[in-house]
Parts: sequence; structure tokens; C-alpha cells
Amino acid sequence: MLDRESRHEPGSRTAGPSDAGTRGDGTAASDVARRKDALRVRLLAARRALSAEQRTAAAEELRGHVLELAQELHEGPVCAYLPIGAEPGSLALLDGLRAAGRSVLLPVVPPRPGPLDWAAYTGPVSLGPGPLGLREPTTPRLGPAALRTAVLVLVPALAADRSGRRLGRGGGYYDRTLGAVPPGVPVVALLHDGELLDEVPTDPHDRPVTGVVLPTPGTVATGNNGRG
Ligand SMILES: Nc1ncnc2c1ncn2[C@@H]1O[C@H](COP(=O)(O)OP(=O)(O)O)[C@@H](O)[C@H]1O
Ligand SMILES: [Mg+2]
Repeated sequence: MLDRESRHEPGSRTAGPSDAGTRGDGTAASDVARRKDALRVRLLAARRALSAEQRTAAAEELRGHVLELAQELHEGPVCAYLPIGAEPGSLALLDGLRAAGRSVLLPVVPPRPGPLDWAAYTGPVSLGPGPLGLREPTTPRLGPAALRTAVLVLVPALAADRSGRRLGRGGGYYDRTLGAVPPGVPVVALLHDGELLDEVPTDPHDRPVTGVVLPTPGTVATGNNGRG
């Protein structure tokens, strides 16, 4: 879902004062932005090229892997997301988590840039029309701090690498949000096969994931990224 948040499309980034800086590693910040955008264009094109059958098969595989992962966790809610288009994941995955006894929280985009809000997913009837023609939960908003109760956080991503670096769609919402995840709680990106890359370009603000789930290999822990 979100990162759809701002619907910031690759290539639409405008130059501004923050583009001028040089990072500690000597790489120009604007160079990272360009590399991220180029990667987004390539990855989104590959997703668009997936057939309906391939998307359905991937979603089924991911559902199985995530339900397995959720079995190993303490009692508590799972923060998830509603996929759109060719984004990995499914409503069936959310329903599977609920059937396994989990409460499921979905993100709600805040009116101004800031951390994501959360609201309970209590089945398809709990969804209504949201901004940009997307669906979102109609249940009461629980506030950004609801994330602190999660025992697993599933995040959308266009790609990640083996060190846990994550590339989103360019809205930065998860970077503003994931700092509140308690240490030890897995933050897992759902990906299509081929989206676990050797290296994803990152900025200092980027928040890592602790693992990824792909249709074919299943769950893969990512490297030591300081989240314990
Ligand atoms: N913690 C934060 N506070 C303020 N702005 C942020 C924060 N995290 C990310 N951003 C902004 O969000 C924008 C998109 O970030 P980026 O990492 O490229 O997107 P994504 O994570 O969706 O791939 C950047 O311009 C960045 O400055
Ligand atoms: Mg980011």
C-alpha cells in the first residue's frame, strides 16, 4: 500500500536545497535520489509486467510464508498493509492472520507528513473508500503509538537488500514510522521474487527491515542492521 501515500512518482522529484549536500561518505545526496528513482522505475515496470496469474500465485505463496512466520510469535497484533496493483500481499493474507487469531492493524495516511496512523482491520466490511480512490479501514483511528503494540510489522517495499536496506515508493512514510517499533519486533518487507537485491541505495533517514518474505525462498533474515 502506502508509499502510495504521497503518490510521489519516480522522476517527479524536484531539486531543492536538500539536493545540494554531500553525505558523510562523500556521495552527493542527489546521486542517491537519482539512483533510487532509476531503481523504482525499473522495479515498477517489472511488477507491471507480471501477469494476473503470476500475481495470484505470488500472493498465495506469500500468504503461506507469513502465516507460518506469525505462528512463531507472542500474542499481539500484526501491523500489515492493503496491497494495491501488483504490490505483494493480499486481503486473503490479512484474513488468514485474523483466522489464526491475530488482530490486524492497517496504516492510515496522516493528513500531514508524519508517522502513519493505525486502525483495526476486522474483515472486508471494515474497509471503505479512502484518499486517491484507495480503500482504508473505517474503524476508529488508534494513533501512531498503536505500532508499539505490534509483534510483527509487515511493510510494503519495492526492493530490499541482504543488509535490510529498504526502497519504498518515495513517500518516506515508513521511514517516519518505523523508529517506534520496539527492539526485537520483526519488520518484514513482502517482495516479489527478484526484488531482494545485492544493494539498495539509501539515505541516512532510511529505516531498515529485519527480514523479507519472497514467494519462492520464503522468509529471509537480513543482516545485522542495528535493530536487534
Ligand atoms: N524521518 C523523516 N523525517 C522527515 N522526512 C523524512 C523522514 N524520512 C524520510 N523523509 C523524507 O521522505 C522522502 C522520501 O524518502 P525515501 O527514503 O526516498 O522514500 P521511500 O522510503 O518511500 O523509498 C525524502 O525526501 C525524505 O526527506
Ligand atoms: Mg526510505
